[in-house]
Amino acid sequence: MGSTPTISMILLSLLLIAGCGGGDDESDEGPLMRPGENCMACHAFTVAGTAYPSASSPASAGIAGVSVIVTDANGQETTLTTNAAGNFYTSATLAMPLRAVRLVRAGVTTAMGGAPNGACASCHTQPPSGGAPGRVFAN
Ligand code: HEC
Ligand code: HEC
Repeated sequence: MGSTPTISMILLSLLLIAGCGGGDDESDEGPLMRPGENCMACHAFTVAGTAYPSASSPASAGIAGVSVIVTDANGQETTLTTNAAGNFYTSATLAMPLRAVRLVRAGVTTAMGGAPNGACASCHTQPPSGGAPGRVFAN
């Protein structure tokens, strides 16, 4: 009789805490989460990533208010705006590969020719892969 019910009660309490309290911290799981990481490791977004002031910025240094403009394979243009963590994301249906990608920050454009898919941080990471210069950055 001793310990089994007690352990069950503790586990149940932990589950309830995780379920009810988990959403309180916005940066925990939500729009501001895990800047710099490949969001598509866990999410089904079509385009997502994080914008930085330089290719070598630390993950936490994302910048808000940058326009991320992607043109899909059909020529359809979608504009996203980075949030307080520098993150941008959409689940809109887009035809891959992306024909063009550009960032606009205070009127200055930084562009990439095109991208095979919208998982920006799969290449734009530290250390970089896929020949990318590092983080997605806006001049
Ligand atoms: C390691 C897995 C993981 C990674 C990587 C991850 N997330 Fe999440 N995300 C979650 C989980 C778990 C939740 C909470 C459950 C849910 O709502 O899907 C969540 C919730 C969210 C939500 C709120 C619910 C929704 O689906 O709209 C947003 C927005 C979000 N994440 C954005 C991002 C962005 C942007 C990135 C990349 C910068 C990212 N996440 C990276 C696991 C992850
Ligand atoms: C398959 C790897 C790959 C993916 C995925 C990718 N990029 Fe790139 N990106 C590159 C490479 C390589 C360069 C440098 C050559 C060039 O400019 O085309 C680059 C350069 C850039 C540049 C100019 C330099 C910089 O870092 O600011 C921007 C802006 C950019 N990418 C944004 C994006 C965005 C936004 C996404 C997601 C929609 C994305 N990229 C997805 C490989 C990738």
